Amino acid sequence: MEIIIQPTPEDASLIAARHIARVVREKPSAVLGLATGSTPLPMYRELIRLHREQGLDFSGVTTFNLDEYAGLAPAHPASYHAFMREHFFSQVNVAPERIHIPDGLTPHVPAFCRNYEDAIRTAGGIDVQVLGIGTDGHIGFNEPSSSLASRTRIKTLTAQTRRDNARFFDDPASVPLHVITMGVGTIMDARQVLLLAFGVKKANAIAAAVEGPVTAMHPASILQMHPVAKCFIDEPAAARLTRTEYYRWVYEQKPGWQKV
Ligand code: GLP
Repeated sequence: MEIIIQPTPEDASLIAARHIARVVREKPSAVLGLATGSTPLPMYRELIRLHREQGLDFSGVTTFNLDEYAGLAPAHPASYHAFMREHFFSQVNVAPERIHIPDGLTPHVPAFCRNYEDAIRTAGGIDVQVLGIGTDGHIGFNEPSSSLASRTRIKTLTAQTRRDNARFFDDPASVPLHVITMGVGTIMDARQVLLLAFGVKKANAIAAAVEGPVTAMHPASILQMHPVAKCFIDEPAAARLTRTEYYRWVYEQKPGWQKV
């Protein structure tokens, strides 16, 4: 895994956004795997700026979001449909018919999940997958003990994740119990993975993901097995890593052609 430590979330997000911009410029029909939560917000802001000021063109891009709450309509303000509309899709030119987000209201969850996997395959697979991380090490909504080979399916949230995400809901009791999420195996099939994490509350989760053992009890740790995984973190999120000097050194010594 490549560990990129930056002073602030904005600095790290800018590099992650430039990385995605490069993928889109090199392959205008790129397939992007997208994430929600507070973490990717500065990255989306930078992509929007690149779209407006430098003409970064998303018109040929296809997107697949990681997850959605089961039972929430796309119009629900806490749904990931609403999040993506507000923070990204309303401000760039992704074609609406190429946007895919799990349907929280689907009456046939297993069939919907199979179709979601088929749609990813039919689109040619995900070129670059953006990820945040839960304080318990989840990616997407793959909670600890999720199969490391799992595919898109329904999951039940832990009490910790429901508490962490309660800030988006009027009443903590209304945080859904169930979600539809890409599986760990689905995520691992992406050609590149960008993991973003900011703030000291993510420090333990990042240390376990990057330097801990690979275990289903910390799903993000499987990214150690991914051939092209990049981890963009700020100083507080890096606080519990032991090899930070080496990670900084590697980044400073990068050959020019590898830099974005
Ligand atoms: C949710 C999402 C994850 C996200 C995580 C962290 O659980 N399903 O994809 O990574 O929250 O959220 P935040 O970035 O707000 O800390």
